[in-house]
Amino acid sequence: MRLGGAVDLRTTVGSVELPNPVLTASGTAGHGAELAGYLDLARLGAIVVKSLAAEPWPGNPPPRVHQTPAGMLNSVGLQGTGVAAWLVDELPRLEERGARVVASIWGRRVEDYERAARLLRGAPGVVAVEVNVSCPNLEDRSRMFAHSASATSDAVAAAAAADLPRWVKLSPNTPDLVEIAGAALEAGAEALVLVNTVLGLAVDIRHRTYRLGSGPRGGGLSGPAIRPVAVRAVHDCRAAFPEAGIVGVGGVARGVDAVELLMAGADAVEVGTATFLNPRAPAKVLAELTAWCRRNRVGDVRSIVGVVHGPAYPAPDDTLAGTEGYEGGERRGRERRQGDRRRSVPRGAIHNVPPGGETRDAEDHADGASLLGVLAGGAEEPEARDLAQAMLAVIERRADQQAEQVAKLVEVATLVGQSVPPRVGEESGGDRVETEEDNDDND
Ligand SMILES: Cc1cc2nc3c(=O)[nH]c(=O)nc-3n(C[C@H](O)[C@H](O)[C@H](O)COP(=O)(O)O)c2cc1C
Repeated sequence: MRLGGAVDLRTTVGSVELPNPVLTASGTAGHGAELAGYLDLARLGAIVVKSLAAEPWPGNPPPRVHQTPAGMLNSVGLQGTGVAAWLVDELPRLEERGARVVASIWGRRVEDYERAARLLRGAPGVVAVEVNVSCPNLEDRSRMFAHSASATSDAVAAAAAADLPRWVKLSPNTPDLVEIAGAALEAGAEALVLVNTVLGLAVDIRHRTYRLGSGPRGGGLSGPAIRPVAVRAVHDCRAAFPEAGIVGVGGVARGVDAVELLMAGADAVEVGTATFLNPRAPAKVLAELTAWCRRNRVGDVRSIVGVVHGPAYPAPDDTLAGTEGYEGGERRGRERRQGDRRRSVPRGAIHNVPPGGETRDAEDHADGASLLGVLAGGAEEPEARDLAQAMLAVIERRADQQAEQVAKLVEVATLVGQSVPPRVGEESGGDRVETEEDNDDND
Protein backbone atom coordinates (compact mmCIF):
# COMPACT_ATOMS: atom_id res chain seq x y z
CA MET A 1 0.00 0.00 0.00
CA ARG A 2 1.28 3.48 -0.87
CA LEU A 3 1.52 6.28 1.66
CA GLY A 4 -1.86 8.01 1.78
CA GLY A 5 -3.76 5.05 0.31
CA ALA A 6 -6.99 3.59 1.64
CA VAL A 7 -6.81 1.57 4.83
CA ASP A 8 -8.95 -1.53 5.25
CA LEU A 9 -10.20 -1.13 8.82
CA ARG A 10 -12.53 -4.13 8.90
CA THR A 11 -12.05 -6.59 11.70
CA THR A 12 -13.79 -9.60 13.20
CA VAL A 13 -14.34 -10.34 16.87
CA GLY A 14 -15.20 -14.01 17.11
CA SER A 15 -17.89 -14.41 14.45
CA VAL A 16 -18.89 -10.74 14.51
CA GLU A 17 -17.74 -8.68 11.55
CA LEU A 18 -17.18 -5.00 12.27
CA PRO A 19 -16.36 -2.15 9.88
CA ASN A 20 -13.54 -0.97 12.13
CA PRO A 21 -11.93 -1.91 15.45
CA VAL A 22 -12.99 1.07 17.60
CA LEU A 23 -15.91 0.51 19.98
CA THR A 24 -17.23 2.32 23.02
CA ALA A 25 -16.67 0.76 26.47
CA SER A 26 -19.61 -0.29 28.61
CA GLY A 27 -20.75 2.32 31.14
CA THR A 28 -18.85 5.19 29.58
CA ALA A 29 -21.03 5.99 26.57
CA GLY A 30 -24.46 5.96 28.19
CA HIS A 31 -27.27 3.46 28.00
CA GLY A 32 -28.22 4.30 24.46
CA ALA A 33 -27.67 7.09 21.94
CA GLU A 34 -26.34 9.73 24.38
CA LEU A 35 -23.20 10.32 22.27
CA ALA A 36 -25.16 10.80 19.03
CA GLY A 37 -24.88 14.59 19.29
CA TYR A 38 -21.09 14.33 19.18
CA LEU A 39 -20.34 11.58 16.71
CA ASP A 40 -21.92 9.34 14.11
CA LEU A 41 -22.64 6.18 16.08
CA ALA A 42 -22.88 4.09 12.92
CA ARG A 43 -19.29 4.93 12.02
CA LEU A 44 -17.84 3.26 15.09
CA GLY A 45 -17.17 -0.48 15.09
CA ALA A 46 -19.96 -0.91 17.65
CA ILE A 47 -21.57 0.74 20.66
CA VAL A 48 -21.23 -1.28 23.85
CA VAL A 49 -23.95 -0.07 26.21
CA LYS A 50 -23.97 0.22 29.99
CA SER A 51 -24.34 -3.19 31.65
CA LEU A 52 -27.98 -4.21 32.01
CA ALA A 53 -29.52 -6.48 34.61
CA ALA A 54 -32.72 -8.49 34.29
CA GLU A 55 -34.31 -6.03 36.79
CA PRO A 56 -33.82 -2.31 37.55
CA TRP A 57 -30.93 -1.69 39.95
CA PRO A 58 -30.27 1.52 41.96
CA GLY A 59 -26.45 1.38 42.04
CA ASN A 60 -24.28 2.89 44.77
CA PRO A 61 -24.78 6.09 46.79
CA PRO A 62 -22.92 9.24 45.66
CA PRO A 63 -20.21 10.39 45.26
CA ARG A 64 -19.61 7.85 42.54
CA VAL A 65 -16.58 9.17 40.72
CA HIS A 66 -13.26 10.58 41.82
CA GLN A 67 -10.49 11.89 39.61
CA THR A 68 -7.06 10.32 40.13
CA PRO A 69 -3.67 10.89 38.52
CA ALA A 70 -4.04 9.59 34.96
CA GLY A 71 -7.51 8.21 35.46
CA MET A 72 -10.55 8.00 37.66
CA LEU A 73 -12.13 5.84 40.31
CA ASN A 74 -15.80 4.99 39.94
CA SER A 75 -18.33 3.21 42.09
CA VAL A 76 -21.44 3.69 39.96
CA GLY A 77 -22.49 0.20 40.99
CA LEU A 78 -24.21 -0.86 37.76
CA GLN A 79 -27.23 1.41 38.12
CA GLY A 80 -29.80 0.83 35.39
CA THR A 81 -33.43 0.36 34.50
CA GLY A 82 -33.02 -3.24 33.37
CA VAL A 83 -33.12 -5.00 30.01
CA ALA A 84 -36.90 -4.79 29.42
CA ALA A 85 -37.03 -0.99 29.82
CA TRP A 86 -33.82 -0.59 27.80
CA LEU A 87 -35.31 -2.49 24.88
CA VAL A 88 -38.19 -0.02 24.76
CA ASP A 89 -36.55 3.27 25.76
CA GLU A 90 -33.00 3.11 24.44
CA LEU A 91 -32.44 0.46 21.79
CA PRO A 92 -34.76 2.03 19.15
CA ARG A 93 -32.66 5.22 19.21
CA LEU A 94 -29.50 3.25 18.58
CA GLU A 95 -31.19 1.30 15.84
CA GLU A 96 -32.45 4.49 14.16
CA ARG A 97 -28.87 5.66 13.92
CA GLY A 98 -27.66 2.46 12.33
CA ALA A 99 -25.38 1.55 15.25
CA ARG A 100 -24.21 -1.99 15.77
CA VAL A 101 -25.01 -2.65 19.41
CA VAL A 102 -23.26 -4.89 21.90
CA ALA A 103 -25.51 -5.38 24.93
CA SER A 104 -23.62 -5.82 28.18
CA ILE A 105 -25.38 -7.84 30.88
CA TRP A 106 -24.65 -8.51 34.53
CA GLY A 107 -26.21 -10.40 37.41
CA ARG A 108 -25.85 -11.39 41.02
CA ARG A 109 -26.81 -15.01 40.49
CA VAL A 110 -26.26 -17.29 37.52
CA GLU A 111 -30.00 -17.29 36.84
CA ASP A 112 -29.94 -13.44 36.61
CA TYR A 113 -27.59 -13.76 33.63
CA GLU A 114 -29.91 -16.29 32.07
CA ARG A 115 -32.96 -14.01 32.47
CA ALA A 116 -31.17 -10.90 31.19
CA ALA A 117 -29.84 -12.85 28.20
CA ARG A 118 -33.22 -14.38 27.36
CA LEU A 119 -34.79 -10.90 27.22
CA LEU A 120 -32.22 -9.90 24.58
CA ARG A 121 -33.09 -12.72 22.23
CA GLY A 122 -34.01 -11.32 18.81
CA ALA A 123 -33.34 -7.68 19.83
CA PRO A 124 -32.86 -5.70 16.59
CA GLY A 125 -29.39 -4.34 15.86
CA VAL A 126 -27.76 -6.25 18.74
CA VAL A 127 -24.75 -8.07 17.31
CA ALA A 128 -23.36 -9.63 20.49
CA VAL A 129 -23.86 -9.90 24.22
CA GLU A 130 -20.96 -8.85 26.47
CA VAL A 131 -21.14 -10.78 29.73
CA ASN A 132 -19.81 -8.57 32.51
CA VAL A 133 -18.66 -10.87 35.30
CA SER A 134 -17.19 -8.16 37.54
CA CYS A 135 -20.13 -8.50 39.92
CA PRO A 136 -20.53 -10.08 43.34
CA ASN A 137 -21.95 -13.59 43.20
CA LEU A 138 -24.56 -13.88 45.95
CA GLU A 139 -24.35 -17.65 45.71
CA ASP A 140 -20.65 -17.60 46.58
CA ARG A 141 -20.37 -15.24 49.58
CA SER A 142 -20.38 -12.25 47.20
CA ARG A 143 -17.08 -13.29 45.65
CA MET A 144 -16.74 -11.75 42.19
CA PHE A 145 -17.85 -14.05 39.38
CA ALA A 146 -14.79 -12.80 37.50
CA HIS A 147 -12.43 -14.14 40.17
CA SER A 148 -13.59 -17.72 39.77
CA ALA A 149 -13.19 -19.91 36.68
CA SER A 150 -16.30 -21.96 37.48
CA ALA A 151 -18.56 -18.98 38.24
CA THR A 152 -17.38 -17.18 35.09
CA SER A 153 -18.02 -20.33 33.12
CA ASP A 154 -21.55 -20.65 34.60
CA ALA A 155 -22.41 -17.01 33.78
CA VAL A 156 -21.16 -17.39 30.20
CA ALA A 157 -23.09 -20.63 29.76
CA ALA A 158 -26.25 -18.97 31.11
CA ALA A 159 -25.88 -16.13 28.59
CA ALA A 160 -26.41 -18.64 25.78
CA ALA A 161 -30.11 -17.87 26.33
CA ALA A 162 -29.60 -14.69 24.27
CA ASP A 163 -28.85 -16.77 21.20
CA LEU A 164 -26.23 -14.18 20.27
CA PRO A 165 -22.43 -14.37 19.99
CA ARG A 166 -21.09 -14.20 23.54
CA TRP A 167 -18.19 -12.01 24.60
CA VAL A 168 -16.99 -12.14 28.20
CA LYS A 169 -15.61 -9.06 29.95
CA LEU A 170 -12.97 -10.11 32.44
CA SER A 171 -11.42 -8.52 35.48
CA PRO A 172 -7.70 -7.86 35.83
CA ASN A 173 -7.99 -8.22 39.62
CA THR A 174 -7.04 -11.88 39.67
CA PRO A 175 -3.78 -13.75 39.17
CA ASP A 176 -5.75 -16.45 37.31
CA LEU A 177 -6.86 -14.34 34.35
CA VAL A 178 -5.65 -16.74 31.66
CA GLU A 179 -7.19 -19.76 33.38
CA ILE A 180 -10.50 -17.91 33.80
CA ALA A 181 -10.39 -16.79 30.17
CA GLY A 182 -9.90 -20.42 29.14
CA ALA A 183 -12.92 -21.48 31.21
CA ALA A 184 -15.04 -18.75 29.58
CA LEU A 185 -14.01 -19.86 26.09
CA GLU A 186 -14.78 -23.48 26.98
CA ALA A 187 -18.23 -22.36 28.15
CA GLY A 188 -18.98 -20.86 24.75
CA ALA A 189 -17.56 -17.31 24.77
CA GLU A 190 -16.30 -16.30 21.32
CA ALA A 191 -14.35 -13.34 22.57
CA LEU A 192 -12.54 -12.03 25.63
CA VAL A 193 -12.98 -8.38 26.53
CA LEU A 194 -9.92 -7.30 28.52
CA VAL A 195 -10.15 -5.56 30.96
CA ASN A 196 -12.64 -4.16 33.43
CA THR A 197 -11.46 -1.64 36.02
CA VAL A 198 -8.67 -2.22 38.56
CA LEU A 199 -9.70 -2.25 42.23
CA GLY A 200 -8.81 0.97 44.03
CA LEU A 201 -9.68 3.17 46.98
CA ALA A 202 -9.31 6.87 47.79
CA VAL A 203 -9.38 8.59 51.17
CA ASP A 204 -10.63 12.13 51.72
CA ILE A 205 -7.94 13.24 54.16
CA ARG A 206 -9.67 16.52 55.02
CA HIS A 207 -12.82 14.79 56.23
CA ARG A 208 -10.98 11.64 57.31
CA THR A 209 -13.29 9.39 55.41
CA TYR A 210 -13.73 7.55 52.13
CA ARG A 211 -13.91 9.55 48.92
CA LEU A 212 -16.59 7.41 47.30
CA GLY A 213 -20.10 6.64 48.49
CA SER A 214 -19.28 2.93 48.35
CA GLY A 215 -17.09 3.51 51.44
CA PRO A 216 -14.65 0.73 52.29
CA ARG A 217 -15.58 -1.16 49.12
CA GLY A 218 -13.73 1.47 47.08
CA GLY A 219 -14.12 1.66 43.32
CA GLY A 220 -12.69 0.75 39.97
CA LEU A 221 -9.69 2.54 38.51
CA SER A 222 -9.77 3.33 34.79
CA GLY A 223 -8.02 5.58 32.29
CA PRO A 224 -4.42 5.79 31.04
CA ALA A 225 -3.14 4.54 34.41
CA ILE A 226 -4.40 1.04 33.61
CA ARG A 227 -3.39 0.80 29.97
CA PRO A 228 -0.33 -1.38 30.67
CA VAL A 229 -2.59 -3.70 32.68
CA ALA A 230 -4.87 -4.06 29.66
CA VAL A 231 -1.94 -4.53 27.28
CA ARG A 232 -0.54 -7.27 29.50
CA ALA A 233 -3.89 -9.05 29.78
CA VAL A 234 -4.45 -8.90 26.01
CA HIS A 235 -0.91 -10.05 25.35
CA ASP A 236 -1.04 -13.02 27.72
CA CYS A 237 -4.47 -14.16 26.55
CA ARG A 238 -3.48 -13.85 22.87
CA ALA A 239 -0.41 -15.98 23.56
CA ALA A 240 -2.59 -18.60 25.25
CA PHE A 241 -5.55 -18.47 22.83
CA PRO A 242 -4.35 -17.65 19.31
CA GLU A 243 -7.78 -18.21 17.77
CA ALA A 244 -10.00 -16.38 20.28
CA GLY A 245 -11.58 -13.02 19.59
CA ILE A 246 -10.02 -10.39 21.86
CA VAL A 247 -11.14 -6.84 22.57
CA GLY A 248 -8.70 -4.60 24.46
CA VAL A 249 -10.05 -2.02 26.92
CA GLY A 250 -8.16 0.24 29.30
CA GLY A 251 -6.81 3.73 28.88
CA VAL A 252 -7.32 4.07 25.14
CA ALA A 253 -7.39 7.79 24.40
CA ARG A 254 -5.36 8.07 21.17
CA GLY A 255 -4.82 6.19 17.94
CA VAL A 256 -1.42 4.96 19.13
CA ASP A 257 -3.01 3.49 22.26
CA ALA A 258 -5.27 1.43 20.03
CA VAL A 259 -2.27 0.39 17.92
CA GLU A 260 -0.48 -0.82 21.06
CA LEU A 261 -3.41 -3.05 22.08
CA LEU A 262 -3.84 -4.36 18.54
CA MET A 263 -0.16 -5.25 18.33
CA ALA A 264 -0.43 -7.03 21.70
CA GLY A 265 -3.19 -9.19 20.20
CA ALA A 266 -6.54 -7.38 20.30
CA ASP A 267 -8.86 -7.61 17.30
CA ALA A 268 -10.61 -4.43 18.43
CA VAL A 269 -10.49 -1.87 21.24
CA GLU A 270 -13.03 -0.08 23.39
CA VAL A 271 -12.71 3.55 24.43
CA GLY A 272 -13.95 4.32 27.94
CA THR A 273 -12.78 6.99 30.37
CA ALA A 274 -11.39 9.16 27.55
CA THR A 275 -15.01 9.79 26.56
CA PHE A 276 -15.63 11.69 29.81
CA LEU A 277 -12.86 14.12 28.89
CA ASN A 278 -13.98 14.38 25.27
CA PRO A 279 -17.29 12.88 24.11
CA ARG A 280 -15.83 12.59 20.62
CA ALA A 281 -12.94 10.45 21.89
CA PRO A 282 -13.98 7.19 20.16
CA ALA A 283 -14.23 9.01 16.80
CA LYS A 284 -10.90 10.73 17.47
CA VAL A 285 -9.22 7.38 18.26
CA LEU A 286 -10.63 5.94 15.03
CA ALA A 287 -9.40 8.91 12.96
CA GLU A 288 -5.95 8.75 14.57
CA LEU A 289 -5.71 4.99 14.11
CA THR A 290 -6.57 5.40 10.42
CA ALA A 291 -3.97 8.16 10.04
CA TRP A 292 -1.37 6.05 11.82
CA CYS A 293 -2.01 3.12 9.49
CA ARG A 294 -1.68 5.42 6.49
CA ARG A 295 1.59 6.95 7.72
CA ASN A 296 3.01 3.54 8.51
CA ARG A 297 1.87 1.92 5.27
CA VAL A 298 -0.43 -0.55 6.98
CA GLY A 299 -3.02 -1.37 4.33
CA ASP A 300 -5.06 -3.78 6.45
CA VAL A 301 -5.50 -3.09 10.14
CA ARG A 302 -5.81 -6.85 10.84
CA SER A 303 -2.20 -7.21 9.76
CA ILE A 304 -0.92 -5.62 12.95
CA VAL A 305 -3.07 -7.73 15.27
CA GLY A 306 -0.73 -9.67 17.51
CA VAL A 307 2.44 -8.81 15.56
CA VAL A 308 4.31 -8.58 18.82
CA HIS A 309 3.96 -12.36 19.08
CA GLY A 310 5.76 -12.88 15.78
CA PRO A 311 9.35 -14.00 15.31
CA ALA A 312 11.93 -11.82 16.99
CA TYR A 313 13.65 -10.92 13.74
CA PRO A 314 12.35 -10.62 10.20
CA ALA A 315 12.43 -13.97 8.40
CA PRO A 316 14.88 -14.25 5.44
CA ASP A 317 12.01 -14.02 2.96
CA ASP A 318 11.08 -10.64 4.38
CA THR A 319 13.81 -9.04 2.26
CA LEU A 320 11.38 -6.80 0.39
CA ALA A 321 10.48 -5.10 3.63
CA GLY A 322 10.56 -1.35 3.42
CA THR A 323 10.41 -1.07 -0.36
CA GLU A 324 6.76 -0.76 -1.34
CA GLY A 325 5.42 -1.00 2.22
CA TYR A 326 6.33 -3.68 4.67
CA GLU A 327 4.00 -6.63 4.42
CA GLY A 328 5.74 -9.18 6.60
CA GLY A 329 3.49 -8.31 9.50
CA GLU A 330 0.43 -8.46 7.28
CA ARG A 331 1.41 -11.93 6.19
CA ARG A 332 2.03 -13.00 9.76
CA GLY A 333 -1.41 -11.72 10.75
CA ARG A 334 -3.01 -13.73 7.96
CA GLU A 335 -0.98 -16.81 8.88
CA ARG A 336 -2.21 -16.63 12.45
CA ARG A 337 -5.79 -16.57 11.22
CA GLN A 338 -5.12 -19.40 8.82
CA GLY A 339 -4.24 -21.68 11.66
CA ASP A 340 -0.64 -20.87 12.59
CA ARG A 341 -1.08 -21.88 16.20
CA ARG A 342 2.17 -20.47 17.53
CA ARG A 343 1.90 -20.33 21.30
CA SER A 344 5.26 -19.17 22.50
CA VAL A 345 6.23 -15.52 22.56
CA PRO A 346 9.86 -15.06 21.54
CA ARG A 347 11.88 -12.87 23.85
CA GLY A 348 12.49 -9.48 22.38
CA ALA A 349 9.74 -9.81 19.79
CA ILE A 350 8.44 -6.43 20.83
CA HIS A 351 11.50 -4.82 19.26
CA ASN A 352 10.77 -6.25 15.87
CA VAL A 353 10.31 -2.86 14.21
CA PRO A 354 9.95 -3.48 10.48
CA PRO A 355 12.85 -1.81 8.68
CA GLY A 356 11.55 1.21 6.83
CA GLY A 357 8.00 0.33 7.79
CA GLU A 358 7.85 2.63 10.77
CA THR A 359 7.75 6.39 10.56
CA ARG A 360 8.27 8.74 13.43
CA ASP A 361 5.74 11.46 13.71
CA ALA A 362 4.93 14.41 15.82
CA GLU A 363 1.77 12.90 17.23
CA ASP A 364 3.61 9.89 18.65
CA HIS A 365 6.24 12.13 20.18
CA ALA A 366 3.57 14.25 21.84
CA ASP A 367 3.56 11.34 24.29
CA GLY A 368 6.54 12.97 25.99
CA ALA A 369 4.28 15.78 27.12
CA SER A 370 1.57 13.40 28.26
CA LEU A 371 4.13 11.40 30.23
CA LEU A 372 4.99 14.55 32.12
CA GLY A 373 1.29 15.10 32.66
CA VAL A 374 0.88 11.59 34.00
CA LEU A 375 3.82 11.81 36.37
CA ALA A 376 2.64 15.16 37.60
CA GLY A 377 -0.91 13.95 38.01
CA GLY A 378 -2.03 16.23 35.23
CA ALA A 379 -1.01 19.27 37.26
CA GLU A 380 0.11 22.41 35.49
CA GLU A 381 2.14 23.78 38.43
CA PRO A 382 5.80 24.41 37.54
CA GLU A 383 6.92 22.61 40.70
CA ALA A 384 5.16 19.42 39.75
CA ARG A 385 6.56 19.63 36.25
CA ASP A 386 10.10 20.13 37.60
CA LEU A 387 9.72 17.06 39.79
CA ALA A 388 8.42 15.01 36.87
CA GLN A 389 11.30 16.19 34.68
CA ALA A 390 13.83 15.29 37.38
CA MET A 391 12.33 11.81 37.66
CA LEU A 392 12.47 11.40 33.91
CA ALA A 393 16.11 12.49 33.82
CA VAL A 394 16.99 9.80 36.37
CA ILE A 395 15.24 7.13 34.31
CA GLU A 396 16.98 8.27 31.14
CA ARG A 397 20.41 8.39 32.81
CA ARG A 398 19.93 4.85 34.08
CA ALA A 399 18.86 3.66 30.65
CA ASP A 400 21.93 5.29 29.06
CA GLN A 401 24.25 3.59 31.57
CA GLN A 402 22.65 0.23 30.91
CA ALA A 403 22.85 0.72 27.15
CA GLU A 404 26.59 1.40 27.50
CA GLN A 405 27.05 -1.75 29.57
CA VAL A 406 25.21 -3.84 27.01
CA ALA A 407 27.26 -2.35 24.14
CA LYS A 408 30.47 -3.31 26.03
CA LEU A 409 29.15 -6.85 26.56
CA VAL A 410 28.42 -7.17 22.84
CA GLU A 411 31.95 -6.00 22.05
CA VAL A 412 33.56 -8.49 24.46
CA ALA A 413 31.34 -11.35 23.29
CA THR A 414 32.21 -10.64 19.66
CA LEU A 415 35.93 -10.56 20.51
CA VAL A 416 35.83 -13.98 22.22
CA GLY A 417 33.58 -15.43 19.52
CA GLN A 418 30.57 -15.98 21.77
CA SER A 419 27.01 -15.65 20.57
CA VAL A 420 25.77 -12.11 20.94
CA PRO A 421 24.07 -11.37 24.25
CA PRO A 422 20.64 -9.76 24.35
CA ARG A 423 20.18 -6.75 22.13
CA VAL A 424 19.56 -3.43 23.77
CA GLY A 425 15.89 -3.51 24.53
CA GLU A 426 15.77 -7.19 25.45
CA GLU A 427 15.98 -8.35 28.99
CA SER A 428 19.52 -8.12 30.24
CA GLY A 429 19.93 -10.05 33.44
CA GLY A 430 16.94 -8.57 35.22
CA ASP A 431 16.27 -4.97 34.40
CA ARG A 432 15.02 -4.14 30.97
CA VAL A 433 16.94 -1.55 28.99
CA GLU A 434 14.73 0.90 27.20
CA THR A 435 15.54 2.02 23.70
CA GLU A 436 14.37 5.05 21.81
CA GLU A 437 11.91 2.86 19.94
CA ASP A 438 10.35 1.90 23.24
CA ASN A 439 9.31 5.46 23.75
CA ASP A 440 7.98 6.07 20.30
CA ASP A 441 4.39 5.19 20.84
CA ASN A 442 4.07 4.64 24.51
CA ASP A 443 3.91 6.70 27.62
C1 LIG B 1 -18.02 5.42 35.13
C2 LIG B 1 -17.74 4.05 34.61
C3 LIG B 1 -18.77 3.12 34.51
C4 LIG B 1 -18.50 1.84 34.04
N1 LIG B 1 -19.53 0.95 33.92
C5 LIG B 1 -19.30 -0.28 33.42
C6 LIG B 1 -20.36 -1.20 33.21
O1 LIG B 1 -21.54 -0.92 33.44
N2 LIG B 1 -20.05 -2.43 32.73
C7 LIG B 1 -18.77 -2.82 32.41
O2 LIG B 1 -18.55 -3.94 31.96
N3 LIG B 1 -17.74 -1.94 32.58
C8 LIG B 1 -17.97 -0.70 33.06
N4 LIG B 1 -16.94 0.18 33.20
C9 LIG B 1 -15.58 -0.24 32.84
C10 LIG B 1 -15.23 0.21 31.41
O3 LIG B 1 -16.09 -0.34 30.46
C11 LIG B 1 -13.78 -0.16 31.06
O4 LIG B 1 -13.63 -1.56 31.12
C12 LIG B 1 -12.77 0.45 32.02
O5 LIG B 1 -13.16 1.72 32.40
C13 LIG B 1 -11.38 0.50 31.40
O6 LIG B 1 -11.38 1.25 30.21
P1 LIG B 1 -10.99 2.83 30.16
O7 LIG B 1 -9.70 2.97 30.89
O8 LIG B 1 -10.90 3.16 28.71
O9 LIG B 1 -12.10 3.54 30.85
C14 LIG B 1 -17.19 1.47 33.67
C15 LIG B 1 -16.16 2.42 33.77
C16 LIG B 1 -16.42 3.69 34.23
C17 LIG B 1 -15.28 4.66 34.32
